[in-house]
Order: sequence, then structure tokens, then C-alpha cells
Amino acid sequence: MYRKFVEEIGLEGGEDVLDFGAGWGDNTFYIARKLFKGGRVTALDVSEQWQKVARRRLKGFKNVDFVRSDVRSSPLKDGSFDVIVVSYVLHDIPVKERKGILDDLVRKLKPDGFIQLREPTRKQHGMPINEIRNLMNQAGMMESSSTVGRNQFKARYSRGK
Ligand SMILES: C[S@@+](CC[C@H](N)C(=O)[O-])C[C@H]1O[C@@H](n2cnc3c(N)ncnc32)[C@H](O)[C@@H]1O
Repeated sequence: MYRKFVEEIGLEGGEDVLDFGAGWGDNTFYIARKLFKGGRVTALDVSEQWQKVARRRLKGFKNVDFVRSDVRSSPLKDGSFDVIVVSYVLHDIPVKERKGILDDLVRKLKPDGFIQLREPTRKQHGMPINEIRNLMNQAGMMESSSTVGRNQFKARYSRGK
């Protein structure tokens, strides 16, 4: 499931990637394996516990940077990522904070960068697809592809021209 999601990003190997809310690092692992042409992945997570787990699991990789921080107060520079991965993070964030977080993530993208997202959509565990689309729209992002599954929504967003 992680591997397929990362395959779908279509990384070429030299990109700067942010794994926002990297957790225990499963996406980070598959991303790092794809970045064999000088690319780097930053595993950002606010949780000390999950950062520890991810660091331990990925210690063999030289192209992974770890940042333990909330994205809103992180030291990451604006305009520095080709790809930002948001995998099962947004639905965990309080509704009122989602817009601010997405605006912040969009600022971290390079001009031609994109966000690759997947979120659960079940009522008991997830968020409505319309809310994701509205938030992205408000952040100035256009949906270039999407897949609506039974319990999961996947999509790519680029800056609107
Ligand atoms: C459900 S886990 C998903 C982990 C991973 N992305 C995956 O797909 O397996 C959500 C993660 O997002 C992190 N997170 C939530 N809000 C965050 C924020 N504002 N800044 C950074 N990380 C955050 C949590 O600590 C948690 O590790």
C-alpha cells in the first residue's frame, strides 16, 4: 500500500521531497529508495516518539533528513520542495487548523512543485473529499488527478496558473 502510493508519485530521483507527518517512516523508506540521483527526502513529524522510530528504521539511508517539528514552526525554507507528500495526516489535524497548515505547506513548494495526497474518507475515521478539495482550492492548488476509493481518496495538486 505504501509502495504503490510512492510508485504513483513518479519520482525521477533528483527531487527534494517533504514527507509531511512522516510517522514511522514507511512512505519515507520507499521515497528514499527512489531518490538515487541526488534527491533528498525530509521526514517531518511533530511526534518525538515517531521520529525516533523512523530514525532507527531508516538509519542506513544517507538521503533522509529528519525534522522533529510542527510544520508551522519548522525551520524548513519556503519554496524548497519539488514534492510534498501528505499521507493520512490532514484528517488527524483539528478541522480549524487544516487551512493554516495547508497554506503553510503550499509556501514550502517550489513554483512547479506539487502535493501528493491520500486521506481516509470513512465517516468514523477520515474526512470528506469535498473538504479536501475546498481546502486545496482555497490554498490556490488545482487538482490534476484523483482516485476515489471505497475508504480512501488520492490526488495530486499543483499551483493554479
Ligand atoms: C496517521 S500518522 C501518518 C503517518 C504516515 N504519513 C503514514 O502515511 O503512515 C499522522 C502523523 O502526522 C503527524 N502530524 C500531525 N500533525 C502534524 C503537524 N502539524 N506537523 C507535523 N507532523 C504532524 C503525527 O505526529 C503522525 O505521526
